[in-house]
Amino acid sequence: MAEPTLVIVVASGAAWEPAVLERLGEHPRIVLLKRCVDVDDLLAAATAGQAHVAVLGLDSPGLDRSAVDLLRKHGVRPVAIAAGGATLDGARLRAARTGIARVVTDDDLDALAGAVLDEESPETAVRVPQPDGPPPPPPTGAVGPVSPGRVVAVWGPAGAPGRTTLATGLAAEVARRGRRTVLVDADPYGGAVAQQLGILDEVSGLLSAARLASAGQLEERFGSVQRGLDDRLSVVTGLPRGDRWVEVRAGTVEHLLEVARAQGEVVVDTGFSLEDDPGSDYGTRPGRNQLTLGALDVADEVVVVGGADPVGLSRLARGLVQVREVLGGRPVHVVVNRMRPTLGWSERDIAGMVAGFARPAGLHFLPDDQPTVDRALVAGRTLAELGDSPLGRAVARVADAVLAASPATSGR
Ligand SMILES: Nc1ncnc2c1ncn2[C@@H]1O[C@H](COP(=O)(O)OP(=O)(O)OP(=O)(O)O)[C@@H](O)[C@H]1O
Ligand SMILES: [Mg+2]
Repeated sequence: MAEPTLVIVVASGAAWEPAVLERLGEHPRIVLLKRCVDVDDLLAAATAGQAHVAVLGLDSPGLDRSAVDLLRKHGVRPVAIAAGGATLDGARLRAARTGIARVVTDDDLDALAGAVLDEESPETAVRVPQPDGPPPPPPTGAVGPVSPGRVVAVWGPAGAPGRTTLATGLAAEVARRGRRTVLVDADPYGGAVAQQLGILDEVSGLLSAARLASAGQLEERFGSVQRGLDDRLSVVTGLPRGDRWVEVRAGTVEHLLEVARAQGEVVVDTGFSLEDDPGSDYGTRPGRNQLTLGALDVADEVVVVGGADPVGLSRLARGLVQVREVLGGRPVHVVVNRMRPTLGWSERDIAGMVAGFARPAGLHFLPDDQPTVDRALVAGRTLAELGDSPLGRAVARVADAVLAASPATSGR
């Protein structure tokens, strides 16, 4: 018979305590190891290294990201109980913020034993990469050999038009098609890819890459700056705070993207500004927007995303002019995001407007699809992982066009 799962409970006097203790007590594969009075007591008990799981109130005082990290360090999986009529999705979102993947509401304790016994599987809401974990395994079988790919840069003007959503969606879609893919978060105003995908990572892949590049070791240790999401898709997470951009030396992003491209397809999320700020205060440092400009410079394909509303479209029009100057006229793929009938204009109307500012390599529309985006964000999943959705289908069409635009092993 399988070893029993040893559980510590911290209820801090919550109303659900008796019911939880009863359910855990009567389960044949669960052993209640200890009841702790508070989170500090729990952390002390966890360091003993015996427990497998901590069942604790989501609202326990002192329950934060560092407490959860400490639990995991000692091999203890947290399972949170959400009380007071919380919805499961709302509770999951709150739990994900502290790094907890398993949540049960106190009005559905039937799910408790399953959550306690379940090793965290791909269904969990939060991904917990190993801090110094191995690089994603080299592709095997269906994945095909490591081979050079293309760099696809996703840019868009100010106003959060959906650069990160599209970059993440594209990378996952390319990986789903069997290509080894790296998603790089190079937004100099602060990374968001890790948060979008529920990657709990204290270590920024971009800052690690910057340090390794300075030491001349990026190529050999490229694996250590990536976090593998599956055997094809990995992520180089972005800046933990916008002000850390000064730590990324000139040329780092270009170097990083070239190293990544040698191993497969690359999708890079960038910032909104294309202003060439020399950053003279920082001596040899690049200006902030060099992260974006460098990514656009090495990209094989550039995707420009803009919002479908009046403000988004006028920013897109200006952006197309700006990006043309930066790219020296190289054609871009234009994506108009959050298209919806209530705006009162058609795809044709927008195509006419875009034609006034650029001759794009392609024009695509993504629907306004809040339910899908919310589902992905709450679960920390990519669109490809969610299965069929209107937004997922539209992103797949963008991937078709972008991949068809340059042959797989071209490079520039
Ligand atoms: N097609 C869509 N339908 C519904 N919501 C969307 C869609 N695309 C993006 N969003 C939402 O719009 C918001 C901004 O998207 P996202 O973070 O991808 O933009 P961004 O351009 O990367 O912004 P930032 O400037 O913060 O980097 C997010 O809340 C996202 O979930
Ligand atoms: Mg973003």
